[in-house]
Amino acid sequence: MTSSQASGDVIDVLVSDHRDVTALIGEIWAVADPMIRRDLTDTAISELVRHAVAEEMYVYPVMRKYLADGDKAVEHDVEEHKELERTMKELEAADVSSGEFDAALRRLEELLADHVRDEESEQFPELRRRVPGEELTELAGKVETAKKLAPTRPHPGAPNSQLFHKLVGPGVGLVDRLRDKLTGRATR
Ligand SMILES: [Fe+2]
Ligand SMILES: [Fe+2]
Repeated sequence: MTSSQASGDVIDVLVSDHRDVTALIGEIWAVADPMIRRDLTDTAISELVRHAVAEEMYVYPVMRKYLADGDKAVEHDVEEHKELERTMKELEAADVSSGEFDAALRRLEELLADHVRDEESEQFPELRRRVPGEELTELAGKVETAKKLAPTRPHPGAPNSQLFHKLVGPGVGLVDRLRDKLTGRATR
């Protein structure tokens, strides 16, 4: 079921994640209601952690294997993901009506734009050229399955953030809990 639902190959999936998270950030800027802002922010964090983990699990190995400078490209992306996570943790901790929140959101927007530019203009086209099509299609199914391992989204406007946080489990911050759930790492 999961792989037949996946449209296109893994690059299509990842590019559409990039679009979704970018659009969510735009929505966060557009709303003032603190509860909706919080829910949209948690959704954006959830989508982005899921995306980063899927790339790490399934895309890094093919980058290392097929790209000329694969190891270097992976190293660079790992650094980007760390910065994205640091910024998401700031967003997690900040009051959504504060200046710190806006500053962190601005930073996330910039980091994400860099991430998208690097991948979509350099790594993804090269992967399309070098990796066999069937392999890219198969990876799409794996990525979709991996992303389903953690609950997706609180619904903006509904008072269900708490339920979402409960589903993701107890522990430290949302970013870490999501990552733990997705990678099967024990919750610290
Ligand atoms: Fe990405
Ligand atoms: Fe990445």
